Amino acid sequence: MGHATFIIEYEGLRVIIDPFIEGNPSCPISLDEVPKVDLVLATHSHPDHYSNVVDIVKRDGALFVGSYELATDVESKGGRAVGMNIGGTYRYKGLAITQVRADHSHEKGPATGFVLRHPEGSLYHAGDTGLFYDMVLIRKLYNPEVALLPIGSHFTMGVEEAVEAVDLLKPRYVIPMHYNTFDVIKADPHEFKRKAEERVPGASVIVLKPGEEWELKR
Ligand code: NI
Ligand code: MN
Repeated sequence: MGHATFIIEYEGLRVIIDPFIEGNPSCPISLDEVPKVDLVLATHSHPDHYSNVVDIVKRDGALFVGSYELATDVESKGGRAVGMNIGGTYRYKGLAITQVRADHSHEKGPATGFVLRHPEGSLYHAGDTGLFYDMVLIRKLYNPEVALLPIGSHFTMGVEEAVEAVDLLKPRYVIPMHYNTFDVIKADPHEFKRKAEERVPGASVIVLKPGEEWELKR
């Protein structure tokens, strides 16, 4: 849905990560058009990742999963929430949600990423982060097939760093995110695709337009 906002579907269940709908110049839909979700995840408290969390949790009676501090915030505003922290795994209807490290600033609760694992597929949403070598451990422990990586620079990794991240993670598919939403995070996803695929044979970069769908097939 543009920026770091993704809607993920598996076995009829729907998860939204980092919902930034209102005020997101790249998001093609309005808040009312967001389909009903079962789970709402947020990697950290910055408004471009967290601003529509409570709206969607309360509208859908969805369950929020995120850091303890953000879960407390969601509960204080009348939403259902599960608070967790980096290193831990929460299981929901066949989905294992592991909260992992991110190198980034934060206001309330830590800055994090998530790894989602299910027999149908596994995915890493890096959140906002710089490059860190422990991505090797994310690969070793969870081996995500799909990696969502920021490439916009300024607040996160840029293209060069994200290419290194692909080399550390060696996912089958990579979807770039967190670029071209605002002028300060301008990046060329096709330059990233060319460099990452050259660097890591076996990785395919999928450049999605906001609103575009992609299905993991094995
Ligand atoms: Ni941030
Ligand atoms: Mn951000």
